[in-house]
Amino acid sequence: MKAAITAVAGYVPDDVLTNADLEKMVDTNDEWIRSRTGIRERHILKDPNLATSDMAAEAAKKLLEKRGIGAEEIDLIIVATVTADMHFPATANLVGEKIGAVNSWGFDISAACSGFLFALQTGSQFIQAGTHNKVLVIGADKMSSIIDYTDRTTCVLFGDGAGAVMLEPSEVEGIHDAILHQDGSGAQHLRQKAGGSLHPPTAETVAAREHYIYQEGQPVFKAAVKGMADVSYEILQKNGLTGDDVAWLVPHQANLRIIDATQRRMGLDPKKVMINIDRYGNTTAATIPLCLSDWEDKLKAGDKLVLAAFGGGFTWGAIYLTWAYN
Ligand code: ACO
Repeated sequence: MKAAITAVAGYVPDDVLTNADLEKMVDTNDEWIRSRTGIRERHILKDPNLATSDMAAEAAKKLLEKRGIGAEEIDLIIVATVTADMHFPATANLVGEKIGAVNSWGFDISAACSGFLFALQTGSQFIQAGTHNKVLVIGADKMSSIIDYTDRTTCVLFGDGAGAVMLEPSEVEGIHDAILHQDGSGAQHLRQKAGGSLHPPTAETVAAREHYIYQEGQPVFKAAVKGMADVSYEILQKNGLTGDDVAWLVPHQANLRIIDATQRRMGLDPKKVMINIDRYGNTTAATIPLCLSDWEDKLKAGDKLVLAAFGGGFTWGAIYLTWAYN
């Protein structure tokens, strides 16, 4: 028995932050942002009363409607996020309440930009074990809540959004393989310095702007190019595949140059790569399900997909699956 994706849906907030808008906020320009990252604009959840769970719930409601089932049929909700509404309860709990998934249990997974892959693999284990029939896997992040909009090195990169998939048992199509990694030494280059149990919030941590994302771009870039390209190539090799066999690469959208390096390493036709970083920026855990949602009309049953990501931790990995529906 395999776990197959049987529906997909995405949600981004209405408000758009363009490169031209950012030019008025920090010392940057459209040419730098587009040539170094591939980003033109990103969506931002501006309403201060709304959070990650609200975007996740919107994606989940759309998903249930498409799948034609009620929320009470969901057994388990897994939310990948680094911007939980609050430390506890888990975002999955809040989403369950918001959509009326009264028969579910759930939990969050924190693996930054690899979060959706970690959550998808975790969810698939519950299906394969035969104990769960409908697992809702969501990647959602309100990155604007942890971005310093005076720091040009990070504020141009991220956006807000959510994507959701339903996992159900399948005899043929579904998740075939996953290779996932972590290396905690990467925290020195990419982390949120304060707000956790190491440095709880104080007036000093707020004044020092330590609740925002801290990133040293270059070491992360180097590790990301190698990590994402290597693991994508490795999953092809392990499953006896070449780039020609793959219908679509579904890469995490952090930087167009990291995506290009992965596509080349896999020997893949560039036309087979899902890219929407230009419209959304890096939405962290939401990038991969947002791609699946945007490309859903083009996907055919039996298509071989490789999903790949690299992110904070460091965390990285790839999943090989076959698409289950037209
Ligand atoms: N506008 C204009 N100039 C800028 C900007 C900006 N927004 N940001 C930085 N610069 C300047 C720098 O100050 C530097 O100037 P200097 O040469 O005078 O010192 C110059 O541009 C080059 O800066 P670099 O950091 O070397 O630029 P780089 O080509 O590495 O691109 C980037 C930066 C886009 C951040 C890249 O390093 C990257 O994509 N890194 C990986 C990001 C990633 O994958 N993160 C993991 C996922 S995120 C997560 O998990 C939450």
